[in-house]
Amino acid sequence: MSIVDLRSDTVTKPSPEMRRVLAEAEVGDDVLGDDPTVNRLQEHMAVFLGQPAALFVPSGSMANQVAIRAATEAGDEIIADITTHSYNYEAAGFAGVSGCSMRLLAGQRGVFTPADVAAAIRPPDHHFPRSRLVIIENTNNGGGGTTWPLENVADVCALARQHKLHVHLDGARLMNACVATGLKPTDYTRHVDSVSMCFSKGLGAPVGSIIAGSSAFVERARRFRKMLGGGMRQAGILAAAALYAVEHNVERLAEDHANARRLATAVAELPGIRLNPAEVETNIIIFEVDRRLGTAADFVQRLRERGVWVLPTEPQRVRAVTHLDVSREQIESAIGVFRDLCT
Ligand SMILES: Cc1ncc(COP(=O)(O)O)c(C=O)c1O
Repeated sequence: MSIVDLRSDTVTKPSPEMRRVLAEAEVGDDVLGDDPTVNRLQEHMAVFLGQPAALFVPSGSMANQVAIRAATEAGDEIIADITTHSYNYEAAGFAGVSGCSMRLLAGQRGVFTPADVAAAIRPPDHHFPRSRLVIIENTNNGGGGTTWPLENVADVCALARQHKLHVHLDGARLMNACVATGLKPTDYTRHVDSVSMCFSKGLGAPVGSIIAGSSAFVERARRFRKMLGGGMRQAGILAAAALYAVEHNVERLAEDHANARRLATAVAELPGIRLNPAEVETNIIIFEVDRRLGTAADFVQRLRERGVWVLPTEPQRVRAVTHLDVSREQIESAIGVFRDLCT
């Protein structure tokens, strides 16, 4: 049985060409600062993201956790949407690693406004946690691959600046946002204090993320990367894959978005599925399953038995993600399986 793996864009495997580039990468000891390929990646990404400096880290979670640790002190509070990855899926690192609390906002599919932030900022009183950091996630994974309107980013950041709050952009899928909106990464990043971005999701590299920000921030982040065990030695092999991914796999994200729209439009018509295709802006599709099709876990299991792999995210909610290892033909065959199960 052929498998259509729509569980996540993290399942992508390095292509033969990427593997060749990776095998031939020049390497050194990056903890000592002498890996030329890591240095090249960090310099390239600092410019790409419009920040003075950048740091290569093993994962998107470590990028977020190191950024949170570098931007806060124990007892501080982070303001973020309830869907935020660093709140839900990073083992409460904001509390365990940084000793912070999180004040959660109920945004629109992960996107919040300056008014939401203003209402969440604590007064300067010693009873309260100190509001210190705002996290924007673009695209927002839990909200269904939502892109942030640039105006919201600018306005939230302007408000944060007035209150001396650091803004971190979790741009794990920033390139999906850019391809969907036609904006440049720097259109978003010029407003924020730090940004992270992943190479190992839709861009197809096997490992790695980048953090970018001011030189002082990145130096602090380097220390916390070391503390968390994220200092890697001959990491140039991975940095070469990341450079290849940024060079070759950004524009093609449009294909993943078109595949997601095609799947969403077809699945939305099926009885028992609740999905608004207009909300599918990038490569993530989230839909609700009516109880008569069982729970999300039941439905996901039945899809799996027919070779379509997706993930349940809540008792009645399912997520499907398109990526560079899924072709249009595979999307059409997945639609056939959905139809068989729902009608
Ligand atoms: C928005 C967002 N941030 C961070 C991460 C964490 O990345 P990693 O799985 O590399 O730790 C993810 C993973 O899916 C994500 O969706």
